[in-house]
Amino acid sequence: MAFTVALLCTLLVILISSLGNALSLNYYEQTCPDAESIITKVVKSEVMKDQTVPAALLRMHFHDCFIRGCDASVLLNSAGKNTAEKDGPPNVSLHAFYVVDNAKKEVEALCPGVVSCADILALAARDVVVLSGGPTWDVPKGRKDGRTSKASETVQLPAPTFNISQLHQSFSQRGLSTEDLVSLSGGHTLGFSHCSSFQNRIHNFNSTHDIDPSMHPSFAASLRSICPIKNKAKNAGTGMDPSSTTFDNTYYKLLLEGKSLFSSDQALLTASKTKDLVSEFSSSKAAFHKAFVKSMIKMSSITGGQEVRKDCRVVN
Ligand code: HEM
Ligand SMILES: *[C@@H]1O[C@H](CO)[C@@H](O)[C@H](O)[C@H]1NC(C)=O
Ligand SMILES: *[C@@H]1O[C@H](CO)[C@@H](O)[C@H](O)[C@H]1NC(C)=O
Ligand SMILES: *[C@@H]1O[C@H](CO)[C@@H](O)[C@H](O)[C@H]1NC(C)=O
Repeated sequence: MAFTVALLCTLLVILISSLGNALSLNYYEQTCPDAESIITKVVKSEVMKDQTVPAALLRMHFHDCFIRGCDASVLLNSAGKNTAEKDGPPNVSLHAFYVVDNAKKEVEALCPGVVSCADILALAARDVVVLSGGPTWDVPKGRKDGRTSKASETVQLPAPTFNISQLHQSFSQRGLSTEDLVSLSGGHTLGFSHCSSFQNRIHNFNSTHDIDPSMHPSFAASLRSICPIKNKAKNAGTGMDPSSTTFDNTYYKLLLEGKSLFSSDQALLTASKTKDLVSEFSSSKAAFHKAFVKSMIKMSSITGGQEVRKDCRVVN
């Protein structure tokens, strides 16, 4: 009898802990029912003040999920001897951390210690896509915040110089498919890139070509006029696409014309499956949006943390 009870208790503990990181749509229904609407309200008001906020928050969420899962590790400040992700090399485009702080502050005032920073960032990433004219979706919630953030781990992010096999590997290591790779790369319909991210294609590309021959010549020329010398002009750069505040499918149309910024974008044309998806998304915004939603839910469900931070910049 005692043995049976012990066994049942053990099974119960295993069951509960396996559910520990399971996300759900109604996670805050009892504990903080207004969390989502408060976060949306804060994000909306910050986007009205600064139109670079949507791209920043979308990239921040991607960056978060690709290192240690979506655990808000990207939000932690460097502390003591530890240099955090946000102070690591690929941080050129990271900004607008204050938006998450402001949302957290309002949510904390209402339901202290309940809503994780990782959930706030996942919800904000959805909100900015909607505010930019993209699709909407229900975000599963219940992520926990992590206690570790290391600048050295940002090498785990895919680099803009990656070829198709490196991209496949980076995504499949995180349980993401070829379709996820192509649809999530469509995030590059928003935002800005610095010269340093695409200079490999327009200066000393390889020993026989100064410019990547897969790049449209007039497009390459315009990029060279913005970024005339390698490793100079730290703040110079260009919009991801001419409609870089609108969540449309222009990225895929331009990609097919040789007008993408990164080698990693261009690489999507070098395998037949990814190329077919690029063609599909270039001819149908609806198909892109549908695939993007599916892939965002997958990417944002890579979990990792263990606590609900009080302050998104420091561990409890
Ligand atoms: C496929 C692998 C990816 C690579 C190699 C990559 C690389 C980059 C690079 C190098 C930049 C420019 C940084 C700068 O110079 O300022 C950038 C910007 C950006 N990326 Fe990606 N990225 C990838 C996937 C994604 C994904 C999955 C998303 C989101 C769904 C995303 C969203 C963005 C956004 C929105 C920006 C603009 C940021 C801003 O303007 O603040 N990227 N990416
Ligand atoms: C990026 O890292 C540098 C140090 O490497 C730091 O000075 C800078 O503030 C960081 N940028 C952001 C937006 O955190
Ligand atoms: C991609 O780059 C890696 C590392 O440089 C290399 O080993 C691999 O052969 C390349 N793959 C393709 C398809 O070019
Ligand atoms: C340089 O790149 C082009 C285009 O990818 C390629 O055809 C050529 O073989 C490359 N040259 C060298 C020396 O690798």
